Amino acid sequence: MTTEMSPPAFGVVRKAVFPVAGLGTRFLPATKTVPKEMLPVIDRPLIQYAVDEAIAAGCDTLVFVTNRYKHAIADYFDKAYELEHRLEASGKDELLEIVRGVLPSHVRAVFVTQAEALGLGHAVLCAKPVVGNEPFAVLLPDDLIWNRGDGALKQMCDVASSSNASVIAVQDVPAEQTGSYGIVATESFENRRGRITAMVEKPRPADAPSTLAVVGRYVLSPRVFDLLESTRPGAGGEIQLTDAIARLAAEDSVLAYRFQGTRFDCGSHIGLVEATIRYALDHEKISEATREAMQRALDELGVREV
Ligand code: G1P
Repeated sequence: MTTEMSPPAFGVVRKAVFPVAGLGTRFLPATKTVPKEMLPVIDRPLIQYAVDEAIAAGCDTLVFVTNRYKHAIADYFDKAYELEHRLEASGKDELLEIVRGVLPSHVRAVFVTQAEALGLGHAVLCAKPVVGNEPFAVLLPDDLIWNRGDGALKQMCDVASSSNASVIAVQDVPAEQTGSYGIVATESFENRRGRITAMVEKPRPADAPSTLAVVGRYVLSPRVFDLLESTRPGAGGEIQLTDAIARLAAEDSVLAYRFQGTRFDCGSHIGLVEATIRYALDHEKISEATREAMQRALDELGVREV
């Protein structure tokens, strides 16, 4: 006789939330007209890397939390009839495939508006009507994660599924940088993961419980929505996702996970430059040319190779 067991709550994560309503002031003047998520690394906008990572992890419903100025993101994921027709007519099949590949046919994009900039926690709460009562992922497209094997979110979904717990991506940061991140305290780490016991948004180094920082990838129980509804403004006067997750961790198992891969902070100038260098050096067509160009630049600027 077999007994039927209900599937683990984190068995399948189908919905991914992308908070993309930020102003991107660090990249002004470019971001006067181009949302920061549309800034490219080589030939793909940042948002495409995050979307591809979510789809590779098994997500088929993408929820973009946007604002009224960010039409470019919706336009980007819309079908481009005229462009596709022209490429087809001129036999440019490879380009046609690239354009169509922006959003595979089994994936749907949903746009919700965050009317007021009240913080990351509030942005995630705006996705509640679409996500409903199932576990979901959150990806912050500024955090670009390069990895040769499984993407960071796929790794996290596997951990969530096997542990039946929410999972937050973390990495170690220098002590003087704790004020730029959510910082977690955990029980002992084993197999890249540790149970979160506390979580603080952007603490000063002296107040930080550790130097383990939250990176923009989360797999969350829908319970976090209830908690967000009653979360008061925190650091910076904003409704913080970190504060709601800290409350979730007090009632349920929430794991910090040291993902495999390199994260680039593409919300900063140097992060975007570094990501571009990494992807260019790893690119099948322009790797060699990039190496030469970098050498030339170093030579011409009189910088010696170290
Ligand atoms: C957000 C989160 C923070 C996290 C960071 C990762 O901060 O609030 O907890 O560590 O993303 O990039 P932001 O960078 O939007 O200020």
